[in-house]
Amino acid sequence: MSGPAARGDVGERSWRAPGRVNLIGEHTDYNEGFCLPLAIEQGCTATASIAEDGFVEVSSAQRDEPIELALTDLAPGVLADEDSWAGYVLGVVWALRERGHDLPGLSLSVDGNVPLGAGLSSSAALECSVAAAVSDLCGLGLTPADVVAVARQAENDFVGAPTGGMDQLASVFGQAGHALLCDMRTLDVEALPFDPAAAGLDLLVLDSRAPHRLTDGGYGERRRSCEQAAELLGVRALRDVAIGDLDDALNRLPTEQLRKRARHVITENDRTLRCAQLLRDGRLTEIGPLLTESHHSLRDDFEVSTPQIDLAVQIMGAFDAIGARITGGGFGGCAIGLLEPRQARAAAVAIRAAFDGLGFGEPVGFTVVPSAGLRRIVSSHL
Ligand code: GLA
Repeated sequence: MSGPAARGDVGERSWRAPGRVNLIGEHTDYNEGFCLPLAIEQGCTATASIAEDGFVEVSSAQRDEPIELALTDLAPGVLADEDSWAGYVLGVVWALRERGHDLPGLSLSVDGNVPLGAGLSSSAALECSVAAAVSDLCGLGLTPADVVAVARQAENDFVGAPTGGMDQLASVFGQAGHALLCDMRTLDVEALPFDPAAAGLDLLVLDSRAPHRLTDGGYGERRRSCEQAAELLGVRALRDVAIGDLDDALNRLPTEQLRKRARHVITENDRTLRCAQLLRDGRLTEIGPLLTESHHSLRDDFEVSTPQIDLAVQIMGAFDAIGARITGGGFGGCAIGLLEPRQARAAAVAIRAAFDGLGFGEPVGFTVVPSAGLRRIVSSHL
């Protein structure tokens, strides 16, 4: 991260980091497997400047009250519930100090437009933009991979969400017109061409507006089941079970629930690699069935979908989506589908009407475009 400002410099540094949509490869990251996310245009801009020594102040364009804390008071659990949004910002400052960086007093302001709690990684956008802005301002020299690691530490150890790292990787390394095949064991990223518009398609996102929180029990419980299955199978992670060994592995697991969780992860890794190969070969319009199979697996085996999302996926199918699925951690959040633009608009209207008829909350539909990852914003007044 270039161009450090000297301590005491009145300058400020602004960085923007995007949210993400995961095309396929869900609940595979913490199993050291594969996922295929893309960065979206919606993101967060963080601006860092030097403030009173020993203190950190956080403000958000989306909140009324700034929060100020002594740097030495920063610790997991220090924030009141109503201030939990600031944990993604302060967690980064905490993680940097944990790594031995000696930070000056900081003023951090954030402004984002990723829908909150929708499973589109508003949290990774906050963390990554803040980490880059502070690194740049203070001359910490963080590499993009360091930003990913710091952001993840903030989320796992300060906020307490046991997430697997895909979101931060997508936010930092995203590229316009591409999805990223992420190997979550090596953290290698391969950008693969993914341009729905060029194929005459829209990538429709349908935010069910059903609350989604990864610090609640369901996500951690799924993670523990996967770890238990890997241990019983004698492998480091479920990533290590090849698709050809699926039946044998399932026969060795003692409960139906463990078999379902493991089957999802093992088949999802395989679907993700097959989807990546289709994109590598320029065959985007053929990925649809893999997306739909992924949804069924997340609904029936991993059990993280909701009636709202299942309905949205079903309606997208009725409007000739080439494929549709839940995206993100689940337990609410968003569905995605690849549809012709006219059909995408019609599907969004039909989904809204169907939700209304069933007394579900009002959903929001929008299209997303594969976009650039973390980048510096040059302020006009510098
Ligand atoms: C959330 C987590 C990710 C990943 C997904 C499920 O988005 O933050 O790390 O586990 O859920 O694929």
